[in-house]
Amino acid sequence: MRKWKDLSVAVLVLASAFTMSSVEEPLGLDKLPSMSTIDRIQRFSSGACRPIGDDIGMGICWIEGGRSSLSNSCREYDEDARETFPWRRHRKDASQKGSVNKRTMSIGSKKFVTGDFCDSHCSSSPEYQTESSSHHIQNMANKFWNGIPKFVKIVEVGPRDGLQNEKDMVPTSVKVELIHRLVSSGLPVVEATSFVSPTRVPQLSDATEVMEGVRNLEGVRLPVLTPNMKGFRAAVAAGAKEVAVFASASESFSKSNINCSIEESLDRYRAVTSAAKELGIPVRGYVSCVVGCPTEGAIPPYKVAYVAKQLYDMGCFEISLGDTIGVATPGTVVQMLEAVMAVVPVDKLAVHFHDTYGQSLPNILVSLQMGISTIDSSVAGLGGCPYAKGASGNVATEDVLYMLHGLGIKTNVDLAKVISAGNFINNHLGRPSGSKTAIALGRVAADASKIEQD
Ligand code: HMG
Ligand code: MG
Repeated sequence: MRKWKDLSVAVLVLASAFTMSSVEEPLGLDKLPSMSTIDRIQRFSSGACRPIGDDIGMGICWIEGGRSSLSNSCREYDEDARETFPWRRHRKDASQKGSVNKRTMSIGSKKFVTGDFCDSHCSSSPEYQTESSSHHIQNMANKFWNGIPKFVKIVEVGPRDGLQNEKDMVPTSVKVELIHRLVSSGLPVVEATSFVSPTRVPQLSDATEVMEGVRNLEGVRLPVLTPNMKGFRAAVAAGAKEVAVFASASESFSKSNINCSIEESLDRYRAVTSAAKELGIPVRGYVSCVVGCPTEGAIPPYKVAYVAKQLYDMGCFEISLGDTIGVATPGTVVQMLEAVMAVVPVDKLAVHFHDTYGQSLPNILVSLQMGISTIDSSVAGLGGCPYAKGASGNVATEDVLYMLHGLGIKTNVDLAKVISAGNFINNHLGRPSGSKTAIALGRVAADASKIEQD
């Protein structure tokens, strides 16, 4: 009964939020085993935070008493999760009775029989695992979870990074409404706009009016981009309480984006950070092109570390590492982070991935494993930099939330409300969402409402 009540609430929220694209198919959600429509909607409802070792939607099952000890996991949600997702126990019981779909799996030199994914991870039957192989598997799992944070702060950059690259001017009222909707989802930081040259970025030339429209929002941080003292003064006059400066690890991108060298930009930012300090205004620092540049190609990690350290030393409270053109892969991200983490504390770092090559989620996953706990993303995957041709939008906030919640990481952000905000802006822009999660859950909501009607 409660399930159906929850379902109808979720459907109301989700169904009104989605316009399903008939072109893009969800990632086989309808084929997932042991996962009914109701289960899926319950899982994705607000504040979902699932436990480590929990089913992440691909058949991993609950391991009672058999999970590794994880100092930074989201264990406080374990008990709730057992109540919310009773089907997990069912999966476990089934796996204990015996395996189906047995196949062999090799780990190192060892080969053993497994069933589906659940069997290989959950069965303690000696028929399938020797003590040493189960120890080995446990060690591998521990290695994966090591470093993954309990809580991740999402920095929503859609209204700024997302809209700065739109061909047509988005009306101020739509921007303001978008920010209000994003804030209502629980996002702790929403980058609102930029105080840059209106000739260079006409899409954000209404920065002062946008700030006026969000003036009354409380309990959220609304930083704005300021490339120099002129922008900083305008931002402060418009009521900004937090600003961001943006340097680059690539000399040519610095020139094309902000019309000055890296060193000149750092000088400008020293002026901004010291003025901000006097007013008690926190300054975030971006480093662009942290892996690749549209003209210079690969950027060596030491150059990124240098700029990140300069920004940190001048007083930026957080440094966001931007893969502006979305060329990074997990391997290059790890190398870059290694270099930066040697000079800036990891808790002062954020990652900012554009999704040109579809690598953002794996890049975020390795960043989490490296200890990063602040992630920039953009609702509906909006975005791109007008001075980085061909670069696509940021990783979609909805997709990041789906992954984080699936990992049992808390964000305090309501995914359904972010999807609703995405739907709002997509309707305005007249195009489908850039978020696979939003599209897939749109399908789930449509299925659920069909079931309810039947
Ligand atoms: P400039 O042309 O070198 O500046 O611009 P200037 O000092 O020679 O001034 C030229 C004109 O701009 C003057 O006006 C200035 O008053 C005006 P005029 O006398 O010709 O009428 N001006 C300004 N107007 C408003 N606000 C200002 C401002 N500054 C000068 N703050 C500047 C230098 C940096 C301003 C310019 O190049 C610019 O605005 N560039 C845009 C950069 C931008 O917004 N890029 C996109 C954001 S960065 C990004 O997306 C990457 C990121 O997401 C991370 C990642 O993905 O990697 C953050
Ligand atoms: Mg960006």
